[in-house]
Amino acid sequence: MEREIRRIGVLTSGGDAPGMNAAVRAVVRCAVSQGIECVGIRRGWSGLINSDFIRMDATSVSHIINKGGTMLYTARSKEFMDAAGRDRALASCKLLGLDGIVAVGGDGTFRGALALSRQAAANGMDLQVVGIPATIDNDIGCSHYTIGFDTACNTAIECIDKLRDTMQSHERCSIVEVMGRHAGYLALTVGLSVGATAVLIPERELDFENDVVEKIRRARLAGTTHYMIVVAEGAGSAMDIAKRINEEVGIDPRVTVLGHIQRGGSPSARDREIASLMGYEAVQAMIERRGNCVVAEQDGKIVDIEMEKALQMVKPFDMEKYDILQSLTHRSGSLR
Ligand code: F6P
Repeated sequence: MEREIRRIGVLTSGGDAPGMNAAVRAVVRCAVSQGIECVGIRRGWSGLINSDFIRMDATSVSHIINKGGTMLYTARSKEFMDAAGRDRALASCKLLGLDGIVAVGGDGTFRGALALSRQAAANGMDLQVVGIPATIDNDIGCSHYTIGFDTACNTAIECIDKLRDTMQSHERCSIVEVMGRHAGYLALTVGLSVGATAVLIPERELDFENDVVEKIRRARLAGTTHYMIVVAEGAGSAMDIAKRINEEVGIDPRVTVLGHIQRGGSPSARDREIASLMGYEAVQAMIERRGNCVVAEQDGKIVDIEMEKALQMVKPFDMEKYDILQSLTHRSGSLR
């Protein structure tokens, strides 16, 4: 017979993302309001292995909805990748009497969650594991949106707007490298929003002559004296792009790698709202025995998808949006 959900754990894992705290708050508040006890697992999956727990109640998540980072800390655990590590994690679950775990993070977090739920089932344990997508990369196949993306875009945009002031004054070319790991979602949204001269993404093979050199030359012929090139980290190194521009166009670009600053800061309204809705949905899915799933946003609706199926889903890159960007960066200055 299925057990009633009495106690759950919540953790954040992988790279932090603004809005993770809001998701933790929603999970705890929703659970507590339905008479379910909550335990915070600190430092991601390694906290589960090492029994790094804190008791959580409705008050322990007060005043965190507006905070970046994660109050539960986060980590990437190598030990959890091995069955022996997960055995130790399952022993902690037994010791604590956990009926389920909500894991807030990205792709790696969910692969860990799936491995844990399979191992639990093989050991005859009734443990439900639910994932909530949170990563600034927005690269989770099953969800159109991941918590943290909007805030990271806004942070990058704010930085680039500042760069533009100095770049404009000195009539320079700026190369800005944004995060995103292997994906170009962050670069595309940021590039569109700052009106970049060119945007380089890993999903599109680089044609340096057309995508960079020609764009700069045409902009120059149209009277522009400063240029902004946004490079997704997965598309190549900003330093290399700068060197090539220097060699082929004869200008001396300045490089800015925005780096981890994009992961910090108070979450935007969108991230707080989606995190709250997803946290609520994660607990509901457990109560209604739809555990072992990933919560997702699809066409504005919050849904949950069986975990194995969710991990097989691939998000098609929005090439239409990229083409729009290309046409908006097009300048008609004649080259010959
Ligand atoms: O996945 C989030 C992310 O910020 C990526 O955009 C980036 O490539 C990576 O994490 C950086 O990871 P770390 O914090 O280990 O340097």
